[in-house]
Amino acid sequence: EGRITVGELADKMGVSASDVISKLIGLGVMATINQAVDTDIAKMLAEEQGFEVEVKVDTLEEKLVETEEDKEEDLRPRPPVVTILGHVDHGKTSLLDAIREANVTSQEAGGITQHIGAYQAEYNDKKIVFLDTPGHEAFTAMRARGAQVTDIAIVVVAADDGVMPQTVEAINHVKAADVPIIIAVNKIDKPNANPDRVKQQLAEYELIPEDWGGDTVFVDVSALKHTGLDTLMEMILLVSEMAELKANPDKPALGTVVEAKLDKGRGPVATVLIQDGTIEVGDSIICGTIYGKVRAMVDDRGNRIEKAGPATPVEILGLNDVAEAGDMLQVVTDDKMARQISEKRSDKRREVELKKSAKVSLDDLFSQI
Ligand code: GTP
Ligand code: MG
Repeated sequence: EGRITVGELADKMGVSASDVISKLIGLGVMATINQAVDTDIAKMLAEEQGFEVEVKVDTLEEKLVETEEDKEEDLRPRPPVVTILGHVDHGKTSLLDAIREANVTSQEAGGITQHIGAYQAEYNDKKIVFLDTPGHEAFTAMRARGAQVTDIAIVVVAADDGVMPQTVEAINHVKAADVPIIIAVNKIDKPNANPDRVKQQLAEYELIPEDWGGDTVFVDVSALKHTGLDTLMEMILLVSEMAELKANPDKPALGTVVEAKLDKGRGPVATVLIQDGTIEVGDSIICGTIYGKVRAMVDDRGNRIEKAGPATPVEILGLNDVAEAGDMLQVVTDDKMARQISEKRSDKRREVELKKSAKVSLDDLFSQI
């Protein structure tokens, strides 16, 4: 929705549609003339052709709630948020699980880790947040809605299988989003593993390892045998330090929904990655068109918590409906404000829907003449 088609993109750039299609194939994307192109990919393609691109994010989040610019002195370093992408079966889930087992200390009672869609790991006393919903679908779905949650992308490539179509797709999405990449060459325990071949293959995509004179970080790992995990964590921290990630903990929170569901006992539950500011129990919140008051918060270890600051994933209870992944969550001054914003947004959404359906019926009419 709202995305440009191959044909439109070709028109805008003054080239033929087949040119655009062949460029897309080069990027690992198959599309016909009438198909919509991922916004990031379209932008990358147009920029390659020397066009300046302005992406108008057609979300309903439009700044109904203005936020003030942060003062430099209020900013504090914050942990990085990492997403794992890669081809099917290359070991994304195994790697996430291995990191979690090795780096999430569960001293808390019971030590049972919750699956809430994101978790916080710790390495050398530094925190790293992993989004637990791997796959570029989640990555692009969020970005399509204007949500920027990932600071570092780990692209997993199985050393026995090598670079595959979804590896290329993942790389292109990450490049388009301008997020630093770390390549995790997985399954190096396998007898037929060939990490050098992976390096050769990725060189074609301008991902050259440091030992070959490039600047892409490659780490050999085995999610199965837990090999290379420490190096991977060190590299994540290194890349994160270079990015100088900061946030202001002393202001009303801003975050993005990474998962949401309707829980039988607890009602609507949203896992939100708090990105800036701090959220507290009792805060009034707005989240897309829904709203509420934070009734309770649960962290990734299943503990009830009162407050959550930047780069913390939390489950939030108290919203009046089920949120959508990619929705922005914002703390507002009071319930009344939350309700008003929600109403305005709902009106706006209805208006947009009406316009859409009016257009569709007109088109239908014309096509029948
Ligand atoms: P999808 O979610 O289906 O895209 O797969 P995935 O990328 O999450 O891969 P997953 O972690 O499910 O692993 C796929 C298969 O590879 C499983 O059978 C794993 O046990 C196996 N596997 C993952 N990592 C390793 C590894 O380091 N070594 C070996 N030998 N096998 C591995
Ligand atoms: Mg998986």
